[in-house]
Amino acid sequence: MFERSRKGENALLVQPYSGPAEPELLEEFAELARSAGARVVGSATAKITRPHPAHYIGTGKLDEVKMLCEATGADLVLVNQALSPVQERNLEKALSRRVVDRTGLILDIFAQRATSHEGKLQVELAQLKHMATRLVRGWTHLERQRGGGIGLRGPGETQLETDRRLLQKRVEQLEKRLEKVEVQRGQMRRARLRNELPRVALVGYTNAGKSTLFNAATQSGVYVADQLFATLDPTVRRVEGLACGPLVLADTVGFVRDLPHELVAAFRSTLSEARDADLLLHVVDAADPLREERIAQVDAVLAEIGAGELPQLRVFNKIDLLKETAPRRECPAEGVEKVWLSARSGAGLDLLRTAIAQRFVAARASGELRLTPVQARLRARLHALGAIREECADEHGWRLRIDLSRAQAEQLSREKDGAALEPLLAAPAAPTYNP
Ligand code: GTP
Repeated sequence: MFERSRKGENALLVQPYSGPAEPELLEEFAELARSAGARVVGSATAKITRPHPAHYIGTGKLDEVKMLCEATGADLVLVNQALSPVQERNLEKALSRRVVDRTGLILDIFAQRATSHEGKLQVELAQLKHMATRLVRGWTHLERQRGGGIGLRGPGETQLETDRRLLQKRVEQLEKRLEKVEVQRGQMRRARLRNELPRVALVGYTNAGKSTLFNAATQSGVYVADQLFATLDPTVRRVEGLACGPLVLADTVGFVRDLPHELVAAFRSTLSEARDADLLLHVVDAADPLREERIAQVDAVLAEIGAGELPQLRVFNKIDLLKETAPRRECPAEGVEKVWLSARSGAGLDLLRTAIAQRFVAARASGELRLTPVQARLRARLHALGAIREECADEHGWRLRIDLSRAQAEQLSREKDGAALEPLLAAPAAPTYNP
């Protein structure tokens, strides 16, 4: 009986295609494989007119792949396709090598990258669900160890060597824990909502430069790596110094084409940072020859998670890699506004800050306010909200220059003495957009 190998990670890639061959698909798959820690030693394309029920690729191709494996010393075969458990197992038998499909590979990368408690729980849940379909009699003798290589990482051995019933128990336990985490997250989000700061979320294809931009905008040290999915957990920070006042910026997980739907579900909460945003910064790698396609793919995922209608600002990043492209802002009469910049060099960041601020100016209430000593409570409330920019006291009370979100001002105006804020709210909102 063939034993699953756990040594090296020399991978042979198999790229199926049905229409005209698309070399960039293979290239991206190789990038995914490298992100998981594999060395790509070779590749084969396989035209699939009708998937072979037993092993997905045809028998002739199977022989060719086997020969290639021997010639290149590959001990792992990665197939850029979601395979059925039966196909995966049959392929393993025929090739005498470990076979991991696209879903398994992406899950593996996620397992390696998740850092937060919630992220880890979600990845484990997705992996268990993926494995549950592959857990069959006679399979459990294949010892699986944590850290044992692509497709073998993550949860595993202790659950897998037991039966489905135990696996199911673990799934239920994880789901329960996640529910709790989600409730907590919901509470945190509500607390933030009470704060009423505008929320901006960075979205984009994996490796577009979201984390780099996040760091540049917030001056924080989020992990940046030339690896896919370096960011698996949303990171949320406050951004100061904008003309519209402070806002909250969230970094999110990178998108990838054909994201296994187990993961779209598993990362619901990560992506919900995007869904709940007031503005999306859609970061695009401007130097990527496939950038238009990537944009469409990201938009498709956004639509899937219910964020398709949110206002978007497209950030064309990495212009330092393009010849003669200076930072610029494009505000077409129709369609999405674009800012061209380099998150790495910082060129054009000022344009982005202005563009963002202009979107939110309308959502502010600001101006002069006179308060008498009997209105001290309102003044204390304004202080507590950090809304007072300047203040001077005289014999009549205080003269204040205030700035706060419109939503907060509306809320306050309904409280005691709040009528004092009404003139500020009556002023027509500043133009949302003024290129
Ligand atoms: P995921 O976490 O996979 O979604 O990636 P991300 O979109 O957060 O990308 P990240 O910020 O990790 O950047 C990916 C790579 O692009 C890193 O090697 C960055 O240094 C590089 N990069 C980011 N911005 C720029 C830029 O403006 N110019 C150049 N030349 N490289 C950049």
